[in-house]
Amino acid sequence: MLMMTKKRSLMAKMKVDNCKKEIEVYLSSYFKDKGVYNKLIYEASSYSLNIGGKRIRPILLMLSYDLYKEDYSKVIPMAAAIEMIHTYSLIHDDLPAMDNDDLRRGKPTNHKVYGEGIATLAGDALLNESMIVMINFSLNHGEKALKASKIISEAAGAEGMIGGQVVDILSETKKSISEDELKYMHLKKTGELIKASIIAGAILGEAPKEDVEILNLFGIKLGLAFQIKDDILDVVGKVEKLGKNTKKDEHMNKCNFITMYGIEKCEVLCKTLTDECIELLNRLSVSATYLKTLTFNLLEREY
Ligand code: IPE
Ligand code: IPE
Ligand code: MG
Ligand code: MG
Ligand code: MG
Repeated sequence: MLMMTKKRSLMAKMKVDNCKKEIEVYLSSYFKDKGVYNKLIYEASSYSLNIGGKRIRPILLMLSYDLYKEDYSKVIPMAAAIEMIHTYSLIHDDLPAMDNDDLRRGKPTNHKVYGEGIATLAGDALLNESMIVMINFSLNHGEKALKASKIISEAAGAEGMIGGQVVDILSETKKSISEDELKYMHLKKTGELIKASIIAGAILGEAPKEDVEILNLFGIKLGLAFQIKDDILDVVGKVEKLGKNTKKDEHMNKCNFITMYGIEKCEVLCKTLTDECIELLNRLSVSATYLKTLTFNLLEREY
């Protein structure tokens, strides 16, 4: 039994590593040889896109597609588009006008290297590029790709990630926010893009409607657990492992899950959400071994 579990988690690791490798090959050559007098924008965009990162969102898209179809390399452009959106959100999140961070993915933040103006534009350029990638993919792959692109674009917008970031900024000037508002903030600023990665993968893989509904619930819970864990790591994580500074939330006077519930309750919450995620995956019409292992690994992560 133990042997089986070990073998399974080794296979899952290989699969995840492979997805990561493929996505990184695509991203690292994406802006190569582009630009004339504007070359700097490609350099700045590539810098943040290629200095590291767990690549969780593209991996989720590929694994969720892989539940239904074998050739997951085919959806790499869509997976890359999500990582471009995520990277843009990090560049902007780190700006002095937002969280004012100087370390990201183990390297100086974009604005520390290129200045605030170019960093802002690099974020904008990555967001626009993601739209170009998704539209081109949709032109070649029809309605399912269009649906996936719509889901991703909405998740990144004012009703999604940006909506959550707005509440995050507003919370800095408040002593506390309601539990409802806090949940909204986490579900939106982080949860939406994670959920969209999963749903987009399933839709591209032509998953049955019932499975898409289950994966939707899975995405909500996984996204929430992911941001609660991010809040926990901000308190207990190690800078060398995280690749970003710690104790930033307290420093910036953020309202988050730690300030609302304390660290122990947050750890229990993460564990409960993870168990609920696994239960949901068990209800799918297909076996989701890799997604289950990834879900456990995200709970245990140190960065
Ligand atoms: C950090 O995201 C910002 C959040 C939305 C919590 P990740 O933890 O996925 O960061 P990278 O991509 O691995 O750097
Ligand atoms: C970031 O949340 C969410 C987005 C970038 C959309 P955080 O501000 O908590 O992320 P880190 O801790 O800086 O990575
Ligand atoms: Mg932030
Ligand atoms: Mg931040
Ligand atoms: Mg954080």
